Amino acid sequence: MRSMISFRGLFFLGCVTALASAAHADEARWRDCRTCHVVEAPDGRELARGGRSGPNLYGVANRALAGDPAFRFYSSDLRAAGQTGARWTEDNFVAYLAGPSQFLRGITGHPAAESAMHVELRSGGRELFRWLQTLD
Ligand code: HEC
Repeated sequence: MRSMISFRGLFFLGCVTALASAAHADEARWRDCRTCHVVEAPDGRELARGGRSGPNLYGVANRALAGDPAFRFYSSDLRAAGQTGARWTEDNFVAYLAGPSQFLRGITGHPAAESAMHVELRSGGRELFRWLQTLD
């Protein structure tokens, strides 16, 4: 019986460690974003710390493009993309991160569209999107 308990204990520890390292990986990815982005709830709680030279990413999942009403520095091309009615689905988010200007060119149809975000993330976008959804 005693050995059963310690086996369970070990199993539990293993799960906790796996969860902790998954959360750790997400935090590591957030480091690529937090220079410019914060995740701040409407009541002012900072769910993930960061800077403010980019829009607040709170509730970005399924939000309209250029949809942070408090952010005044959207590029005209991201605003134009927002006017098409497009939203930040997981696929749009991943495509935007892989090539922000190319993504805006595709959505707006303007071959010269330029994003004001000069950062590209080729992997881990999906995990970041899902992690952002868990912040509440
Ligand atoms: C050097 C600053 C900087 C970094 C680092 C950065 N961004 Fe941005 N981000 C911006 C700016 C500026 C905009 C607005 C772009 C525009 O208006 O064209 C933006 C826009 C966005 C948007 C569109 C939001 C909206 O309201 O429509 C998303 C999504 C986004 N960034 C995600 C990320 C993620 C995820 C990371 C980390 C992998 C990241 N960004 C890293 C500066 C940055």
